[in-house]
Amino acid sequence: MWFLLTILLLLSNGLTEGGVTSTYVRKAAPSVEIPKECFPRPPGYNAPEQVHITQGDYTGTSIIVSWVTPLKEQPKLVTYWEADDKKGITRVRARSRTTTYRYYNYSSEYIHHATIRRLKYNTKYMYELGKGNGTRQFWFTTPPESGPDVPYTFGIIGDLGQTQASNQTLEHYLASGKGQTVLFVGDFSYADVHPFHDNEKWDTFGRFIEKSSAYEPWIYCAGNHELDLAPEIGEQVLFKPYKHRYHVPFRASQSTSPLWYSIKRASAHIIVLSSYSAYAIYTPQYRWLKQELPKVNRSETPWLIVLMHSPMYNSNNYHYMEGETMRVVFEPWFVKYKVDLVFAGHVHSYERSERVSNIQYNITEGVSCPVKDPSAPVYLTVGDGGNIEGIADSFIEHQPSYSAFREASFGHALLEIKNRTHAFYTWHRNQDSMAVSGDSIWFYNRYWFPKEETSSNTLT
Ligand SMILES: *[C@@H]1O[C@H](CO)[C@@H](O)[C@H](O)[C@H]1NC(C)=O
Ligand SMILES: *[C@@H]1O[C@H](CO)[C@@H](O)[C@H](O)[C@H]1NC(C)=O
Ligand SMILES: *[C@@H]1O[C@H](CO)[C@@H](O)[C@H](O)[C@H]1NC(C)=O
Ligand SMILES: *[C@@H]1O[C@H](CO)[C@@H](O)[C@H](O)[C@H]1NC(C)=O
Ligand SMILES: *[C@@H]1O[C@H](CO)[C@@H](O)[C@H](O)[C@H]1NC(C)=O
Ligand SMILES: *[C@@H]1O[C@H](CO)[C@@H](O)[C@H](O)[C@H]1NC(C)=O
Ligand SMILES: [Fe+2]
Repeated sequence: MWFLLTILLLLSNGLTEGGVTSTYVRKAAPSVEIPKECFPRPPGYNAPEQVHITQGDYTGTSIIVSWVTPLKEQPKLVTYWEADDKKGITRVRARSRTTTYRYYNYSSEYIHHATIRRLKYNTKYMYELGKGNGTRQFWFTTPPESGPDVPYTFGIIGDLGQTQASNQTLEHYLASGKGQTVLFVGDFSYADVHPFHDNEKWDTFGRFIEKSSAYEPWIYCAGNHELDLAPEIGEQVLFKPYKHRYHVPFRASQSTSPLWYSIKRASAHIIVLSSYSAYAIYTPQYRWLKQELPKVNRSETPWLIVLMHSPMYNSNNYHYMEGETMRVVFEPWFVKYKVDLVFAGHVHSYERSERVSNIQYNITEGVSCPVKDPSAPVYLTVGDGGNIEGIADSFIEHQPSYSAFREASFGHALLEIKNRTHAFYTWHRNQDSMAVSGDSIWFYNRYWFPKEETSSNTLT
């Protein structure tokens, strides 16, 4: 690898301005979905399935548990206890709200969402769903209380779908054993690429991710494949399956929509945005973000992280410039408030940007190009979960100066926050063993330690 990269550097000297295009390109192969029957229901009568959890409040002492039961609404309870309490003597119950929806000729089963509140920080809990021979047990660990030097590790996965490659991505992430919470940057099941948006694919996806999502929170962000707009079959309500199945604690951050919200988790303040909802001035999303950013307390949560689906900096021919309008609206705030990292998906490849900004633009002077900016975020495109649509293997030739590293592979990323100044970031391509990283860099916090970073793939 190093040898190849060195050759590449010698050949391209003077052509690029520091950016690296990896010579590794995943073999373009058809991405076939795993058949539905390979995602069987769990055994037992009316057994809860598709279990997924997410943070349930602003600060991390609540969890939203979601699951589906096929036959009946009952039981609507989640029972939980501290894992240290081996016999489960102090069991507590929380009741779920149950919903169903119809999509064309599909009728959902019973979808339950229960919020467990007033949990202790940094504590492992067991929880139980269902009854009789359909009873199932899971567990989760609450995050430590927010604080400037609290270590915490996030996994970053995007555009996952349900193919063999998707399974590789998720297995690989789980095998690392490092991730404590998944930041999921959108495009879940890809049900919408099937005739009539075959919503059974939402069910199989829920079963597929359960091995991770039942045990650690996934922070959900909506992508274009969550829109499920199909007026030709009478389906005009945007995000209908997604909003029924994946609940988020948006009210806790004074948001008016589940499509944009924020949470504090350990030493990170995470802002989730919607690329497919209005964001221009006066819109609800714009107003919410405007009041949210000044609230971020970098003494409490030094790391300011933004999730969105469509990347603002992308040098792939796929989805080129689709994030441009949101960039024009929000980028000046990202720089003003010193956002550390922006994670996006959508493009089925991997790319990491330099710290650049392009906020000089005004139409009278025509000044508009990305410049190095120590207050700017690094933009990471991690749309490489490996879904049915295949790899985005067509990068724009002559890598633009804003692009630091790019590679046409599937994989996932890990962000290991160490303290208020340092976070170790790695990206792992599916082909390598977990110990190998295709890209790695020590990120320095923009508020506490705004030093320039160098990565394993910086060849200057
Ligand atoms: C599970 O319970 C249901 C209803 O209580 C019963 O009909 C079924 O036979 C049981 N299945 C097994 C494998 O015990
Ligand atoms: C829904 O309609 C399509 C097309 O008519 C059909 O192929 C499919 O089997 C139907 N599904 C259900 C659940 O009825
Ligand atoms: C996913 O991969 C794991 C590990 O290789 C394997 O055990 C499992 O059966 C796969 N899941 C599916 C649905 O193919
Ligand atoms: C920010 O958080 C710190 C540490 O928790 C706290 O002492 C301080 O009062 C907070 N600042 C504001 C403006 O709330
Ligand atoms: C437009 O850009 C020019 C050159 O950078 C600057 O002098 C001017 O103040 C800008 N105008 C506005 C309205 O931002
Ligand atoms: C923060 O973490 C980095 C990496 O582990 C370490 O080198 C540095 O000394 C730490 N800073 C403090 C103040 O502990
Ligand atoms: Fe997408």
